[in-house]
Order: sequence, then structure tokens, then C-alpha cells
Amino acid sequence: MLNNLKSAIFPFLIFMPSIFAFNDAAENWQLGFQDPATPIMEGIINLHHDLMYFICVIFIFVSWMLLRTLWHFENTQNTVPSSLTHGTLIEIIWTVTPACILLIIAIPSFSLLYAMDEIISPAITIKTLGHQWYWSYEYSDYLNEEGESIAYDSYMIPEEDLNFGQLRLLEVDNRMVVPVNTHIRVIVSAADVLHSWAIPSLGIKCDAVPGRLNQTSIFLKREGVYYGQCSEICGINHGFMPIVIEAVKLPNYISWISNKLNE
Ligand code: CUA
Repeated sequence: MLNNLKSAIFPFLIFMPSIFAFNDAAENWQLGFQDPATPIMEGIINLHHDLMYFICVIFIFVSWMLLRTLWHFENTQNTVPSSLTHGTLIEIIWTVTPACILLIIAIPSFSLLYAMDEIISPAITIKTLGHQWYWSYEYSDYLNEEGESIAYDSYMIPEEDLNFGQLRLLEVDNRMVVPVNTHIRVIVSAADVLHSWAIPSLGIKCDAVPGRLNQTSIFLKREGVYYGQCSEICGINHGFMPIVIEAVKLPNYISWISNKLNE
């Protein structure tokens, strides 16, 4: 919607949309990543780009070798076959070189992996439960006068009830609201079958397993609305239990929390 408007007014902006607007939901025919909102997603994208360099070099080299072999050893060009069976030097080279490439790749890969696992003294803990077929969220850090915490369900808005500008199959009735620039711990579980809580812009894909608590962390760098979907086949309405995260400034989050507590 925003992108349509933008490209209608400034056609040149199509080539640099990330400067002007962030796409935090999937777009038609999208090939690349969604714009990152957390340091983890930035790390994932950087690692992807780093690996792409190696992949391109390897692809070109292997293709070149294959084509050269097909050309030079084709039976009309090479009527007398070689009797060579092995060569120690070349075998050492073609074993050690890929091993070294793997070692070089392992360094940034492991540092990212451990960074994703790290949960830095979270200020907020939110529990999310997967159900057939909706998500529910619990904010147990806060209690009202009756001693109740915040818990609510988040259902997809059906197509016929969508308002103008809302995303089909992605919008929900009750979004998960979180503050920006805050370390948040998310506890993920399920009430019935396997689900998976996944938000591409946040670099999160966490399995929701019944009877088990999985843990992940979020540190949002910018405000926005981030769309995700259940990513584990969980039954007939698997495609109809999206996730929407609304990242707001801390004062707005606090007022949202106090409103929720007084409901
Ligand atoms: Cu829940 Cu798929």
C-alpha cells in the first residue's frame, strides 16, 4: 500500500525503498530478506552476504572445471585415455582447500549462533502460546490490584472484516505490543500441537512445543509493525494464525500496559 503510493509519486524511489520505508511484511515476488529490525537479523543478513561471496567463487570455479573437463576429455578430442589413477599433491589440495573454506565460514557463523542464544538481562518477559489456530500472549511481569496479569488471544482478521490498508492473512485483532530499545525475553510454548513463532524482520523462528518452554530474545532497534506467520504445519488453519508485533516507544508501551491492566 505505502509502496504503491511511493512509487506512483516518486518512481526513482523504487530503487532505494529502504531509505524511505521499511517493508516489515512479505511483498509479492520478494526474493530478498525483509528489512531487519534487530541486531540479530542484521547479523543474519550480513552472514548471508558473506557466504554468498564464497558460493559465487565456488560456483564459478566448479563450473569452469566441469566445462574444461567436458571439452578436453571428450572422446574425439582425447582418443588415448590417461592411465593416471591418483596424484597425492592434487588430492591434498582438493581436500585441504574446502576444509579451510569451511573453517573461515565457521567463525562468523558460530559467533552469530552464540549471539542468538544469548539473553542479556531481559527487562520484560512475554510468554507466547501457540493454539490451534491462534496465538495467545501473557505479560506476567505486571499485576493489577486484583492480582491479575495481562493475557489475551490474538486471532487473524478474516478477509471480509479487513479495513482498508490491512494486510490479508497477516493482520490480527490483538497485536503483541513491545517497547523499542529494550531487551525482551520471549518464552514460546504450545497448548496442543507443534507451532512455530516466526517473524522474519526480527530474525526469529522459535518452535512452540507442547510441554516445553523455548526461549528467545528480541531487541528492537526501531518502531514499526512486524508481521510473521506460524511456521510449523499444525493443522487445517496453519496458514491462518499470523503474528503481529507492534514496537512502540517506552512511554507508549507503559500506557498500553496500564490500559490493559485496568481493562
Ligand atoms: Cu500453528 Cu502452523
